[in-house]
Amino acid sequence: MVGSQIPYKWLAKASVQKLASVAPDPDRWNHRLQSLFGRDRLVVADVVNRAEMVHRHLVALEAAGITHGPGGFERPLTFLEVGTGWHPVVPILLYLLGAEAVISVDHVDHSSDEKLVESIELVARCLADGDLAGALPDIPADRMDAFARVVAMAESRPASELMGALHLERMVSDVRDLKVGRPIDVVVSNHVLEHLPADILPSILAACWELCAPHGVMSHTADLIDHGHYIDPRLSQFNYLRFSPRQWKLVGNDIQHENRLRRPDYLRAYAEAGVPIDWQDDLRADFEHLARVPLAREYWDMDTNELLIHFVHFMSCSR
Ligand SMILES: C[S@@+](CC[C@H](N)C(=O)[O-])C[C@H]1O[C@@H](n2cnc3c(N)ncnc32)[C@H](O)[C@@H]1O
Repeated sequence: MVGSQIPYKWLAKASVQKLASVAPDPDRWNHRLQSLFGRDRLVVADVVNRAEMVHRHLVALEAAGITHGPGGFERPLTFLEVGTGWHPVVPILLYLLGAEAVISVDHVDHSSDEKLVESIELVARCLADGDLAGALPDIPADRMDAFARVVAMAESRPASELMGALHLERMVSDVRDLKVGRPIDVVVSNHVLEHLPADILPSILAACWELCAPHGVMSHTADLIDHGHYIDPRLSQFNYLRFSPRQWKLVGNDIQHENRLRRPDYLRAYAEAGVPIDWQDDLRADFEHLARVPLAREYWDMDTNELLIHFVHFMSCSR
């Protein structure tokens, strides 16, 4: 690990998640543990990160010929967000940008009225403090006004009314079983693909692609950093690549599974799913992060430039 220092925080979290993942009803245990450690609270950095992801989707849409400006999108767009998670921040941001409708699907129901209100209020605070101006400079004035009205009623009105005002529909389903009954113009996801078991990734991509309307767009981002690094920044961003698949099975867990796939694996999954990649982007880490990890044999043959990629973004246009 890092010198002689033992990453206690990472070890504690990994052990607790491992225990929860083998307990009956692991999602319920996960909720309990996350709230016990205060990790279910939304913080400004989360909202800023999701705004940056939404900005990336706007760049991808532009590459697909769909522009966004101060008046909103050039045409009414229905979005599908895959993997809502705990806080519907991305749907709120898409509403602010002018989305006609946002459906957000998750196969686990993490939702609660409190988390919806928490999300609305923190997005409002970030807007007021200028935290989102860099990533999302063009929010139409009519959406700002309408959002201010939603914020004003957030504490007093039922969640169903707030979601209606935000043009948001939440669905609990595996995206592979999802029936939306209307064409989806844009499918997006963030922080989801890297958590899927590698063997089901192609089927998820194929299912999302099926939901896309003709001339629709699919835009997925994935964070390839070892999430242990976020718990303990002393760990390299690539720390998990030291483990063989067998060791990772023991150390990792099913609650916050990290598949450790690298960009070439994603390219193969898209090919297997029969989904074209029409545009892509990535980010690379400093070599220092990789140099201090004794890589497991499985990664020895991979090109260093590929290994250094810690973020991928793929966009596909439906013909
Ligand atoms: C790490 S969370 C990310 C949540 C959110 N996108 C965010 O940025 O915070 C991944 C989410 O994807 C959901 N998910 C995983 N597989 C799914 C599937 N097959 N269909 C729908 N949701 C899925 C999980 O339940 C989880 O809530």
